[in-house]
Amino acid sequence: MTSTIEHSAGTVVILGTGGTIAGASSVAGDNVGYTAAQRSVADLLAAVPPLAGTPVEAEQVAQLDSKDMDAATWQALARAVARHLARPAVQGIVVTHGTDTLEETAWLLQQVLAPAKPVVLVAAMRPATALAADGPQNLLDAVAVARTPGARGVVAVLAGQVHAADRVRKVHTYRTDAFSSGDAGPLGVVEEGVLRRFADWPAGVALGLDVLDTDPTQWPWVEIVTSHAGARGDAVRALVAAGVQGLVVAGTGNGSVHRALQQALDEARAAGLPVWLCSRCAGGVLVPAPGAAPSPAAALSPWQARLALQLQLLSARRGGG
Ligand code: SIN
Repeated sequence: MTSTIEHSAGTVVILGTGGTIAGASSVAGDNVGYTAAQRSVADLLAAVPPLAGTPVEAEQVAQLDSKDMDAATWQALARAVARHLARPAVQGIVVTHGTDTLEETAWLLQQVLAPAKPVVLVAAMRPATALAADGPQNLLDAVAVARTPGARGVVAVLAGQVHAADRVRKVHTYRTDAFSSGDAGPLGVVEEGVLRRFADWPAGVALGLDVLDTDPTQWPWVEIVTSHAGARGDAVRALVAAGVQGLVVAGTGNGSVHRALQQALDEARAAGLPVWLCSRCAGGVLVPAPGAAPSPAAALSPWQARLALQLQLLSARRGGG
């Protein structure tokens, strides 16, 4: 499917959270030694002259390097997104974010809100002070996607590509086209402010904002452990002793696990801990052997799986499952 459509006139709310898109360096040619989260969301908008005349509002929800993303910021962001989405005059939301954990925030927002309007995460690989900053064009493209009639769900827009929340992954440390949707390819591309779409918008049933209502310091502790050559079970045993409440195992290949690690995981399971298996591979899903029960995390990245298990535990605490 390919479709191109014109924009419509509702307000787009831009929520700032920091990241390299808001980063600054004292050296204009420096693309790595900058400090993230230095410019306000209002400053970012001022750097995009073509947005003049477009109905946008800006709100600073947070100002952080996304490596430091946490439950409290996710809770505040999800609440701000929901509050603005409920306004009839708002057509869509754009969230400026760091690239490093963008895919986690995107996935979380889609699971919790499954919005009927677009929520577009945007980021940049170069700081605002770079000789060739990618943030302004990415922000312009993100607003174009948020203003596209019929747009819905959580997506990410970078380097002219639109990625669905459940597929997007950061796959490169440095390139400006650092994101991929894996086997499926991007949901679409933005060309001169117009979306050319290849796939359906993200859909699904929202868990509801209430699932995040727990005090952020009390969200269940879920850790990721990775299987690798020479793996040991000691880290798992230490986590269990320290009170971890769930484990995600990033297995090798199609979900195989080193026997030493498996032994410790079996002990954890026997002690009643949920242990979910996924793959450490960048692409593909766990393909179950005939008759084998599929893992709940079979199609999730390790960090999506960590969030999924955390949401399940939060929901269970609230009596939802
Ligand atoms: C961050 O994730 O906040 C810093 C890195 C980036 O945005 O590229």
